[in-house]
Amino acid sequence: MVKWLRPTYLPCYPLGDNHSRITECDKHIQLSRTAACEGSILLKNDNSVLPFKKGTKVAVFGKAQIDYVKGGGGSGNVHVSYVRNIYEGLKLKKDQVDVFDALSLYYQNYVECQYKAGAQLGMFDEAPVPENLLGKAKEYTDTAVITICRYSCENEDRKNDGTDNYFYLSDAEQKMVTAVTENFTNVVVLLNVGAMIDTSWFAYNDRISSAIMLWQGGMEGGLAAADMLVGDANPSGKLVDTCAKTFEDYPSSAGFHESEEYVQYDEDIFVGYRYFETIPGKKECVVYPFGYGLSYTTFSFSDIFAFNNENKIFVTLTVTNTGAHVGKEVVQLYYSAPLGKITKPAKELCAFAKTKLLQPGESQELCLSFAIKDMASFDDMGDIARSSYVLEKGTYKLYIGTSVREVAEIDYAYHLEEHVIIEKLHSYGAPEKLKRRMLSDGSYQTLECAPITRTTFPCDYQFAKAPEAEHKLIDVVDGKIDLDTFIAQLTDEELCNLVGGQPPTGLSDTCGMGNLKRLEIPNVMTIDGPAGVRLRRLSGIKSTAFPVATALASTWNVNLLEEIGRAGALETKENNLSIWLTPALNIHRSPLCGRNFEYYSEDPHISGKMAAAMVRGIQEQNIVAVPKHFACNNKETNRFWSDSIVSERALREIYLKGFEICVKESKPRMIMTSYNIINGIAASENAELIQGILRGEWGFDGMLTSDWENGKPHVQEVIAGNDIKMDKGEPDKLMNALKEGTLTREELAVCVKRILEMILWVE
Ligand code: BGC
Repeated sequence: MVKWLRPTYLPCYPLGDNHSRITECDKHIQLSRTAACEGSILLKNDNSVLPFKKGTKVAVFGKAQIDYVKGGGGSGNVHVSYVRNIYEGLKLKKDQVDVFDALSLYYQNYVECQYKAGAQLGMFDEAPVPENLLGKAKEYTDTAVITICRYSCENEDRKNDGTDNYFYLSDAEQKMVTAVTENFTNVVVLLNVGAMIDTSWFAYNDRISSAIMLWQGGMEGGLAAADMLVGDANPSGKLVDTCAKTFEDYPSSAGFHESEEYVQYDEDIFVGYRYFETIPGKKECVVYPFGYGLSYTTFSFSDIFAFNNENKIFVTLTVTNTGAHVGKEVVQLYYSAPLGKITKPAKELCAFAKTKLLQPGESQELCLSFAIKDMASFDDMGDIARSSYVLEKGTYKLYIGTSVREVAEIDYAYHLEEHVIIEKLHSYGAPEKLKRRMLSDGSYQTLECAPITRTTFPCDYQFAKAPEAEHKLIDVVDGKIDLDTFIAQLTDEELCNLVGGQPPTGLSDTCGMGNLKRLEIPNVMTIDGPAGVRLRRLSGIKSTAFPVATALASTWNVNLLEEIGRAGALETKENNLSIWLTPALNIHRSPLCGRNFEYYSEDPHISGKMAAAMVRGIQEQNIVAVPKHFACNNKETNRFWSDSIVSERALREIYLKGFEICVKESKPRMIMTSYNIINGIAASENAELIQGILRGEWGFDGMLTSDWENGKPHVQEVIAGNDIKMDKGEPDKLMNALKEGTLTREELAVCVKRILEMILWVE
C-alpha cells in the first residue's frame, strides 16, 4: 500500500464490492433509513391507532409532508441525490395505505410555488387549510395525519417571538390543527424537527391519538416515517431531551436573551432532567420526560440482579417482548447520590442498553455496568476536598426503567461510611463573574469568583539534532529517522505555515493540513459532518445524508452509531479525504440553540457514549474523527464572542463530561475548539482547558484544531496548545512573534509534532 496515495494523487478508486462506489450506495441509504426509524420516538398512541391497518385511508395535512427537512443547514448540511418526503414515502406503501392525493397535491403545489418564489426549505408559513378539500377529505376517510416541520442552521439561534415560532406552533399551524381535530376521528401527528418543540398541544388533546417525533431523519426520512405509520418498522427511539410544557419552563430560558455578550449558566448542573426531576415543583412542568418513548409492542423486565466487582457496578436483567409486534427496548439505569454537603440531582443516567429486535414472546438477557467513580461529584467549593471528584458518604441508590420517570428502585444499593476522594484535580477555567448558581432545593448559592488568570503551561519540547542529509516525511514512516529529527529540519517559516490550514483540493471545501512540498508532507483534507459527509457542492458528487445527531442519539444504539461512523468514514476515504469534522457533542441547554440538531442530548453521559461510538467507527477506517466544539457552544447568537459563564462544577459534570467520556473511551485523533469564550478566555486560547484538563488530566494525545475563521489571535492559540488554525493561519504574525521573542520555536514545534503525528496516522 502506497502511503498517502489518496491525499497525494486523488485517484478515483472506489471502495465497494466489484469496484462499485460506496458513496451514497444503497447499503448506506438503507442504514440511514433504519437509523431514522430507530431514532423516531412514539410519543403518544391512544387506542393503538398506529400502526395503520392494511387498507387504511389517510388524509395528510401540512406542508411538511412535502417540505421535508432532512437535516439542518450550514456545515451540518449534506448534498444528496434526493430527499424522500413523507408523501412520497406513503405513496411507496400504496399496497398498505391509501392517501387522499388531492390534498397532498395541494400542499405540493403550495410548496413548489414557495420554493420558486425564493422561500427556504422549512422556513416558510404553513399553507391555509383548503376548505373544499377538507370536506372531501372528510368524506374520504376518518383518519388524518398532521405534519409539522422546523429548520435551523448554525450562526443563528431560533427565535421565540411572533416572527419565528420555533418552539410553539404558528397561528397557521394552530388553525390547521383545529380544522383537522374538528373533522377527523383518528389524528396522528408527525414532527419533523431538529430540537425540542412544544408537545403540549397534542399530548393534552384527546382528539389527537398518536404522535411520532421523527426528528430530521436524513434523505430517506419520509420513507422511514411511512415505514412506521404502516408498521413495517416499529419506532424504538427514546427522548434524549425533556419535553417541557412551555419554553419558559426550561431553566436556561430566563437568561437566554439577556445579553449578546455573555450567557450566565446559573442553573449550573441542573440542566434538562437534572432540573425537572430535582427542583421542587418542576416535575409538573414536564410533558414527556427524558428517556421516554412508546412502542407498538410491550416489554417486561425480570430477574434484575445487581452486584459490584472491581470498582464497577453491574446490573443484569431479562427483557421480554410481551406484545404482538417485533420491537426493541431501551433499558436505562440511573443512580441517585446521597444529599450531603454538595448539592445533587435527584437522578443521573449512568448506563443504558438496547435489545436486539425481539420477536413477540422472545427474551434477551442484558448486562449494564458503570464505574463506581462515575457517581462522584466535582467539588469546586471545597466542601469536602477542593477541585476533586468526591463520593460523599451515604447510600447510592439505583433505578432501572424506561425513562427517568418510569423506573423501579433496584434491590441493591452502594453504601459508603466515609467520603471517598476519587481524584484530586485542579481548579481550571473558573468563572470570574458568575454570581450565583442553583442548588437542589431551587435556591441559589453565591459563588466565589476570582479575577481571570491565564495559566501558562511550560513547553518542554526539545529539538533533536537536525539530520545531515535532507529527509522526507516518508522516511519517518519507513523508520529511517524519528519524527523529532524530521522536525529539526524545519525552518521558522515552515513551522509557521504548518500550524495553519492549507488550500483545499478535490472534494473538500474546508481546507487541509500539512502541505510542505520540500519535505513531501501531504496536504490531508478535512470534510464536514456530522449528518453525513458534506462533499464540495459544486463537484456534483452526492453522499449519504444520515439522520441528524439528535435522532441518532435517540436510537440509544451505540452499535448503530458505530456502523454509521464506519459508513461515513468509508465515504470520506473513497473521496480521498482524511479528516471528518464529526461528531458534534455540545449540550442541549436551550431549545433555541440553532445547532441543537447537530448535537446529541441534554445529558452528557449519552452524548459521550454516542460520540465515542462514532469515533470508534470512523477511526477504524484510519479516518480522523474530530469531536467538536470544545466547549460550551450552546448559543449561536454572537457565537465568536459570546462568553459562556459557567461554574467549574457544571463545566466538569455537564459541558466537558461528554468530551471526557469520548476521549477516554475512543481516543479521537483530533478535537475542534469552539468559537465562543469560556469564562473570559476564548476556547481556542484556553490553556487551562486544553493543556490542563484535556491533555493533562484526561491524557488526550491527539491534536487540536480551531473552528474555522474564528477571528482569534494565532499566537495565543499556539501558546495555549491549539495546534492548528483553520481554515488558514497567520504565519506573518507568528514570524513576528518569533522575532520579538513572544513565541518560541519549541512552542510551534510541539504543535507541528502533533499535526504530523495525525498525518502519519492517516493512510
Ligand atoms: C463550524 C464547524 C465546521 C467548520 C468547517 C464552522 O462554521 O462551526 O462545525 O466544521 O465551520 O466548515
